[in-house]
Amino acid sequence: MEMRRLGRTGRDVGVVGLGAWQLGGDWGSVDESDALAVLHAAIDGGVTFIDTADVYGDGRSERLVGQVLKASDGLTVATKMGRRVEQVPENYTLQNFRAWNDRSRQNLGVDTIDLVQLHCPPTPVYSDDEVFDALDALVDEGRIASYGVSVETCAEALTAIARPNVASVQIILNALRLKPLDEVLPAARAAGVGIIARVPLASGLLSGKYDEHTTFGDDDHRTYNRHGEAFDVGETFSGVDFSTGLEAVRRLMPWLPAGAAMAQFALRWIIDQPGVSVVIPGARNPEQVAGNISAATLTPLTPDQLTAVQQTYDDLIRPQIHDRW
Ligand SMILES: NC(=O)c1ccc[n+]([C@@H]2O[C@H](COP(=O)([O-])OP(=O)(O)OC[C@H]3O[C@@H](n4cnc5c(N)ncnc54)[C@H](OP(=O)(O)O)[C@@H]3O)[C@@H](O)[C@H]2O)c1
Repeated sequence: MEMRRLGRTGRDVGVVGLGAWQLGGDWGSVDESDALAVLHAAIDGGVTFIDTADVYGDGRSERLVGQVLKASDGLTVATKMGRRVEQVPENYTLQNFRAWNDRSRQNLGVDTIDLVQLHCPPTPVYSDDEVFDALDALVDEGRIASYGVSVETCAEALTAIARPNVASVQIILNALRLKPLDEVLPAARAAGVGIIARVPLASGLLSGKYDEHTTFGDDDHRTYNRHGEAFDVGETFSGVDFSTGLEAVRRLMPWLPAGAAMAQFALRWIIDQPGVSVVIPGARNPEQVAGNISAATLTPLTPDQLTAVQQTYDDLIRPQIHDRW
């Protein structure tokens, strides 16, 4: 797998990683053996970067990652902290960071976590020097090797990139979410900050397997957060209205490379964007993992394919969401 530098972490990671939200909760049930099968398929297939969070299954995802981490050399694990408490800036203190970090280290079974990201904190947190001094202290204390942020908006990403020690920015970037191309990716490249592209399949929309009749379980955020009832609506189908998303995906279908599935095309599009360090598709089974890894070996997309994505976005998606995040 192609390796890329993950910003200021100084680490190189395979360009296709794994998102481990599915292994915790919010996506319907994934039992422990299936979750471990996903992790093993990823590592055996060459994945060297896994993204998790303390809040996924309230620690279940971190603990499952911890189980495979012990036996895996060369794996970089990123977790996130901050969403197990009320979302107010006052909670972003060094004392809380230490407590959250202790729990994550225990869940993962490590003394030092490779990368810890603030998990979409309230916007004022990005402008608070004390927050970043506290994160520097975690590095000095040897609890974490590097820190980054996971953001909702491009404006938050740009504020974070301007901080000297932010190693990486995690942001929604996919064929239905093009705004980070305008300013965030160029700024990250200039500053040497890594870009972790999340929700790369728009919560599965960009797999091309759904239609107007598709339904999701009651315990799946694609049912209960479709209109942002539980958390930021941008995390569910990228904030795109489901039927508009289906129409966009149908427009892209004729542009698939021979033999490639829609998911691979969608991931390859992200890989081809200058400034992207790693893309982190979530997966519920080993077959999905294998399909996603194979995007790394697809030929880069042609100018016509890239134009098709841009035009589809401009025609259908831009009017709906471009100014929102
Ligand atoms: N605030 C944050 O920081 C934040 C928020 C969201 C996500 N994330 C991170 O980003 C990661 C990825 O985003 P995501 O999981 O939300 O969405 P995603 O990767 O865009 O979509 C995952 C879904 O796509 C489908 N899928 C995956 N691979 C497939 C394949 N090869 N073929 C067909 N379908 C496939 C599956 O849907 P089915 O379940 O229908 O099979 C899977 O559940 C998360 O796991 C998490 O680590 C972070």
